[in-house]
Amino acid sequence: MDDGILGISTGGLSPFKGTGELKGTLISLEGCEGSGKSTQAEMLKGYLEERGKTVTLVREPGGTDAGERIREILLDPQTGELAPIAEALLFAAARAQLVRDVIRPALREGNIVVADRYTDSSLAYQGVARGCGLEAVKNLNDWATGDLEPNLTVFLDMSVKDGLARVRGEDRIEQEELAFHENVRYAYSMLIRIFSYRMVVVDARGGPEDVHDRVISHISRMVV
Ligand SMILES: Nc1ncnc2c1ncn2[C@@H]1O[C@H](COP(=O)(O)OP(=O)(O)OP(=O)(O)O)[C@@H](O)[C@H]1O
Ligand SMILES: [Mg+2]
Repeated sequence: MDDGILGISTGGLSPFKGTGELKGTLISLEGCEGSGKSTQAEMLKGYLEERGKTVTLVREPGGTDAGERIREILLDPQTGELAPIAEALLFAAARAQLVRDVIRPALREGNIVVADRYTDSSLAYQGVARGCGLEAVKNLNDWATGDLEPNLTVFLDMSVKDGLARVRGEDRIEQEELAFHENVRYAYSMLIRIFSYRMVVVDARGGPEDVHDRVISHISRMVV
């Protein structure tokens, strides 16, 4: 098995495939709980629309009828403990539906899709923090998405504690202990190195407008 970039074994993780023949652009926002993904996704949508772009905003898990029902299972504390593999499969199932019904059609139209979480969340949460294994979850998600990779992924970086302090921590995953979320952040730091060709890190501290300006500095280079 090859050693990947920076000595991290990518274990056969596939190289960039992107949106292929699709005309549009897929931008995902990633980060730990409360890092401002949903806030920045809305602001980014507004910024792009002001510049005449057609933007499709999707939120994970969910965004389709079936996906929203899967979301309820995944996030409702009443679901209780799920087998890690069951959790990985449910996220992938919701994502498969979203990619087929919403994301691909939007990309075919040439739209910009802004995804509030995408495959990297599964790699970090289920692949690493839940222990399913990075390669297994990568393969599962390649299958679920038909190898659809973002053109750009913005990772909103701030300490786990500060992020959790911003959210109420009521859903099943937010309620996990601090060590779980620290593992998620560590996992993202690995993903940033493995997928350095599409991932950028943005300092998520400070006010929403400050963070927005930092996000835009990466977007304006690729979206004319
Ligand atoms: N830069 C910021 N400074 C202070 N508060 C913020 C900032 N950005 C967002 N918030 C607030 O923090 C909370 C979490 O933000 P947001 O929902 O955007 O984060 P998120 O990453 O989507 O969270 P989650 O992981 O729960 O989906 C919200 O109440 C939001 O209004
Ligand atoms: Mg959110």
